[in-house]
Amino acid sequence: MTVYRGTFVDTPLSPFKGHHLRADQDAAVLVRDGVIAARGPADDLLRDHPADEVVDLTGGLVLPGFVDTHVHFPQVRAIGGLGMPLLDWLERCALPEEARLADTTYAAGVAADFLDGLARAGTTTALVFGSHFAGAVDALFEEATRVGLRITSGLVLSDRILRADLFTDPDRAYAEGAELAKRWHGAGNPAGRTRYAVTPRFSLSCTDPLLESAGALLRDVPDAWFTSHINENPEEIRGVRDLFGCDYATTYDKHDLLGPRSVLAHDVHPTRGELRLMSQRGVAVAHCPTSNAALGSGLFSLGAHLAYGVRVALGSDVGAGTGFSLFKEGLQAYFCQQLQGRDGHRLTAGHLLHLATAAGADALGLADVIGDFEVGKEYDALWLRPEPGTTLDVALRHADSPDDALAKAFALATPADVRQTWVAGSPIRQQTSRGGDPDDR
Ligand code: GUN
Ligand code: ZN
Repeated sequence: MTVYRGTFVDTPLSPFKGHHLRADQDAAVLVRDGVIAARGPADDLLRDHPADEVVDLTGGLVLPGFVDTHVHFPQVRAIGGLGMPLLDWLERCALPEEARLADTTYAAGVAADFLDGLARAGTTTALVFGSHFAGAVDALFEEATRVGLRITSGLVLSDRILRADLFTDPDRAYAEGAELAKRWHGAGNPAGRTRYAVTPRFSLSCTDPLLESAGALLRDVPDAWFTSHINENPEEIRGVRDLFGCDYATTYDKHDLLGPRSVLAHDVHPTRGELRLMSQRGVAVAHCPTSNAALGSGLFSLGAHLAYGVRVALGSDVGAGTGFSLFKEGLQAYFCQQLQGRDGHRLTAGHLLHLATAAGADALGLADVIGDFEVGKEYDALWLRPEPGTTLDVALRHADSPDDALAKAFALATPADVRQTWVAGSPIRQQTSRGGDPDDR
């Protein structure tokens, strides 16, 4: 057993209070076989477990591992294409790079960069938009199994409008998806860390027969996930209505793709009817604030989603999003609500932590397993420990409450400040040492 000692901050669910911010200074958690067996004041736990290994994480904050509910594996090398709206950005930045993943050796290199980027940012669990190429999806799952992150992903599907070298057809999509699901759904080491997600790119690039085959695969793979995009950009939304003659959510719903294991990214411009439908189906929405700002997609109406009872969590949306850090996404989510004045939903630092951790765990059906430091959950964590003398270090040392410290973390933290991440009590090894030359990789 291992005792981790430090300042633990999380957002557990408690009866009558909903999720609330909890911060325990000079506390400890006892981890047995990757699961939190006890927690309490450090002095008490150390006295009761004198023979166990102690990992000293004092200084900085220990937070639950971040959960990224929308991030594109093939786009890690395409981050930073500024100045374009969605459809131009896809054509000029994202898709040329995605086409390179036809080469599985190239894809394996991208998978390594991608998972390393997640781990360095403190992300331990992600719903990942995969590749259009089955070999590249295998490469992602193989690397995820090696590294130990919790990854749900799948083959991306398209059969119109986008570049033709990314197209599939309904039969091939079903067959390749079924093979991948057989290999990776409920697999990993230990079993269950990797799961399969049926992943049409978006309705704009999918015909009804392709979406129908996606619905068939979702039905045939028990407990598979579904993910796609929705209502991101006005031109895209007009295109979908012209093609299907119905609203965006219905294009998925008519093929039985919407349910409690469905996560739709963006939803910047929903109608009330769509919010009602998503709420009825139990769909979760991945809010991707840096991407929405970078592509000029619009301001997310968090209050409307919550009013309709639609679950919301955070997504980095790399590579339209500007990096892997959910600290940055949380801060941008806060900015986005502030900029909406009276229409915005006021967010505290505790809300931001909740969106980046417990809300993500819930959206991905893992609320009983991860998301906070309750006894019985698996120990997925990040240690935020800035270098001495950095502005974040100074700010944390002068914080006057845990809430204040957390607000300073969301304002200032970057992946460079994440000293270590754990999944189920196992440290996730980073590829290069801090400060190492990335060209050495
Ligand atoms: N819609 C369809 N594909 C994409 C993508 O790769 N990124 C974003 N942001 N939206 C999309
Ligand atoms: Zn996306």
